[in-house]
Amino acid sequence: MPDWTTIDFFNDKSLVEDPYPYFESLRAQCPVLPLPHLGVVAVSGYDEANDVYRNVDTFSSCNSFAGPYATFPVPLEGDDVSDLVDRYRDQLPMSEHMVTMDPPDHTRERALLMRLLTPARLKENESFILALADRQLDEFLASGRCEFVREYSQPFAMLTVADVLGVPAEHHQRFRDGFGLSPKPAEIGNENHGDKDRDALGWLETWFTQYIEDRRREPREDVLTKMALATYPDGSTPEVISVVRAATFLFAAGQETTARLLASALKYLAEHPEAQDELRARPDGIPELIEETLRLESPVKVDFRLARRSTTIGGVEVAAGTPVMLLNGAANRDPRRFECPAEFRVDRDNVRQHLAFGRGVHTCPGGPLARVEGRITLERILDRTRDIRLSEQHHGPAGNRQFAYEPTWLLRGLSELHLEFTPVA
Ligand code: HEM
Repeated sequence: MPDWTTIDFFNDKSLVEDPYPYFESLRAQCPVLPLPHLGVVAVSGYDEANDVYRNVDTFSSCNSFAGPYATFPVPLEGDDVSDLVDRYRDQLPMSEHMVTMDPPDHTRERALLMRLLTPARLKENESFILALADRQLDEFLASGRCEFVREYSQPFAMLTVADVLGVPAEHHQRFRDGFGLSPKPAEIGNENHGDKDRDALGWLETWFTQYIEDRRREPREDVLTKMALATYPDGSTPEVISVVRAATFLFAAGQETTARLLASALKYLAEHPEAQDELRARPDGIPELIEETLRLESPVKVDFRLARRSTTIGGVEVAAGTPVMLLNGAANRDPRRFECPAEFRVDRDNVRQHLAFGRGVHTCPGGPLARVEGRITLERILDRTRDIRLSEQHHGPAGNRQFAYEPTWLLRGLSELHLEFTPVA
């Protein structure tokens, strides 16, 4: 049994496969607990995490992405470090993206994004998602097997975002290649120019800059034109780069997260054939299954905030300048909020209270889209298969299964999920 009190959450590989006993031990000591590494305070309680998410005056998002590795060029000393945060925040990783901004800058950039992610746009996008799900399944279903993360969920989540943003269908293959998400050349006889390690965001910025400049020069009847001509709430026109960043960040935020959610949901189904049968008979239970998957295997394991001033969280003193780690994956298993929290129960009354999409002004604007992606994926795959099984060759026999998870402290999700099916004839 590891010593939970000294373990290094950010570097200890033993936590990757199953971080939950560690989360439990943190909460058992205190839902708000200073850790022995990097000056971090860990929040593993539901109410406490919820309070921090909602308190934008006291907690800055400047470190939301890089967490304790968002280091300032000067020490954060004193009982109120707001001025230092605001003076140096531009030097922190991802400072150009809204997820690290605070109001009022955040309010302005988010308003711009919400002009792109309108309910009408998401509705239009749904028919694309449905057709895309079937196309992805067509690539492997007849073979009776797949590695679900790479062959389905990653290209599916990426192309869904591309379509929301109005990337023309004739450019989709280029995006798939660009992200290294095309089927293997031998399988479809084309060449894969993808390079997984390339700077995907930089590459995307080049593409979207071309799109936006082109549409500003020559407006057309398309989504990219709406995006190019969108204005801030005060009526002013954003610089091209601001629109480009709002767009490209959606790929960073909406791809791996959704891909991991889909894989977790499929793993659950493959392990529970009775749940497959039930959902085939009653597909309206699918949304609840997605919610319970989000709660139990929250794809964003942690989020960060920085205490602007000395304060308390759940009665525990927190000094100004402290990186506060919000453990979504732990808060969502807090027994004070969710009964028997480690159990997968699709009929929980309060399942939608989970914090998997965060809370407050930064609440995930892609949540509705991720839910639709989850629902349609499960509907189509259940409809087109008689059974979905785990590959014993890759994951071992029942009772001794093995799974590899992404080796990161930020995300929770399977690296690979090998499935086998009996396709419906
Ligand atoms: C299962 C899938 C997803 C999960 C678990 C997830 C989770 C989250 C969480 C926890 C945050 C809050 C970050 C914070 O407060 O610091 C967030 C923010 C964000 N998400 Fe998602 N997300 C998912 C899918 C998506 C999708 C599909 C999109 C868009 C296409 C998206 C776009 C964003 C954006 C733009 C932000 C920043 C919002 C802001 O700062 O105001 N996400 N997401």
